[in-house]
Amino acid sequence: MTFTYYGHSCFAIESGGKKFLFDPFINGNELAVGIVDSEKIEADYILVSHGHGDHVADLVPIALRTSAQVIAGYEVVCWAQKQGVKNAHPLNFGSMMFDFGKLHFLPAAHSSSLPDGSYGGNPGGFLLHGTEKKFYFAGDTCLTMDMQLIPRYAKLDFAILPVGGNFTMDADDAVIAAEFMQCDKIIGLHFDTFGYIKIDHEATKEKFRTAGKELILPRIGETIEL
Ligand code: NI
Ligand code: MN
Repeated sequence: MTFTYYGHSCFAIESGGKKFLFDPFINGNELAVGIVDSEKIEADYILVSHGHGDHVADLVPIALRTSAQVIAGYEVVCWAQKQGVKNAHPLNFGSMMFDFGKLHFLPAAHSSSLPDGSYGGNPGGFLLHGTEKKFYFAGDTCLTMDMQLIPRYAKLDFAILPVGGNFTMDADDAVIAAEFMQCDKIIGLHFDTFGYIKIDHEATKEKFRTAGKELILPRIGETIEL
């Protein structure tokens, strides 16, 4: 099972021969320019945490090119369907079965509007039970008490959390989130893309080390074996 980072909150998980792409935002990210070619990304499923442009900007072109199934909140799916996306599965908070196994869509404390200004529905995070390793991708959120429920649902192998602060939780709160989730291996996202979320990488990793946890801050274009 691999994790490939495309910058900001965009990444791919490859597991069991299936490709899962999350929160496609590439061409608007100046840090990804020249490193990631959005037209070469393959996907069987595209999972979207919420409607903000820095999570959906490249969703429709990639979905149309790959015919991947778009899995997102109802309002995000309606927005994609208006632009021609046919293969889509709308959902809301709760759990559901897919051909790749069980998935929980769980609340994020954030906001969600789409690039055309329409209502984006509830922002959330995804817990995947059916991949070779179980993981939670929190999307954009602050620290929430709800994260304490996750160990009751699954023993996570790793969690993917925002660490940049300002629009989401920062590293201090991400350490607490990792404690709530009872997870020692964290991949950090949603950092460095904009001035508001620039972080000191070493100091951020040290906060996790001090708590007995590992924080991976992936390089754009990097693939990590999990
Ligand atoms: Ni957002
Ligand atoms: Mn965001």
